[in-house]
Amino acid sequence: MTRYESGDDATRARVITFANQKGGVAKSTTAEAFAASLTARGYAVLMVDMDAQPGNLSMHVGADKSLPGTFELLERRRPMREKVLSCIQPTEFFGDVICANEELDNADKTLGSRVGRELMLSRALEPILGDYDFVVVDTPPALQVRTLNGIAAADDVVVPCMADTSSIAGMEALLECVAEVGEFVREAEPRVAGIVVTRYDARNSLEPELFDQIAEIAAEYDAPLLGRGVRNTVNTRKAQNSGVPLGEFAPNSTAALDYEEAVSAYLAGIGIEDDSRDS
Ligand SMILES: Nc1ncnc2c1ncn2[C@@H]1O[C@H](COP(=O)(O)OP(=O)(O)OP(=O)(O)O)[C@@H](O)[C@H]1O
Ligand SMILES: [Mg+2]
Repeated sequence: MTRYESGDDATRARVITFANQKGGVAKSTTAEAFAASLTARGYAVLMVDMDAQPGNLSMHVGADKSLPGTFELLERRRPMREKVLSCIQPTEFFGDVICANEELDNADKTLGSRVGRELMLSRALEPILGDYDFVVVDTPPALQVRTLNGIAAADDVVVPCMADTSSIAGMEALLECVAEVGEFVREAEPRVAGIVVTRYDARNSLEPELFDQIAEIAAEYDAPLLGRGVRNTVNTRKAQNSGVPLGEFAPNSTAALDYEEAVSAYLAGIGIEDDSRDS
């Protein structure tokens, strides 16, 4: 495990949560790309899948969903280190993962009725933060209790957003929600580390204009754009279906290069010089 030497507390992982209220904007794809890229750069990475949907991140990274995962992690109020470790499994390319299966939907009822319900993930991760450099959290497409837990646990929030009006509305709702978590749930607002424009198609006449609109909103919230947008690439889906990161499956595809640029921009934002393999 290589640990980075930068940041306020280099002995504790940075938690990066990927969220947007809108569905299908490449939250999971972006979380997977970050996890794979950070792992390839030598960092110790743990992914936490908070979304139980079929075809989710857990499936793409080759997790065994019959093993304990996020449901078991959140079952207890303050799991002991051994319990947390029992929910973690290794993957071939993406670091370790705490997977999500359909049972996780049942956790909402239990979570929803608990005092301090937004802080369950943050508390559960505490015992193992010293083991990793980055924890990558993928969230469902709704501002429900699991997404709030992802935001409340985050050092950094990354918002994937497509260049379409409903995704932009979802991004704005999410950014407001981050501020509310800072005001009502924990002491400080999580940092919005940036916006990644996803599934971008510059040939679609509407998208460049909407891209500019995203950039304006990002500036209003003092959030950088991470990279210049991730282009639509058919290899993205093919890579996910084969369980291999896009950066390995088609390293020179536009989306693979664009994601590398986004990850480098994220790292630069936390004071880490570009250590990309390709640079
Ligand atoms: N750059 C890209 N080029 C082509 N297809 C892409 C790209 N990024 C994502 N996709 C595809 O878009 C679809 C939605 O992506 P993904 O599942 O990551 O979105 P999501 O925001 O996590 O969705 P949900 O809200 O349902 O969790 C997937 O089929 C994925 O393969
Ligand atoms: Mg998803």
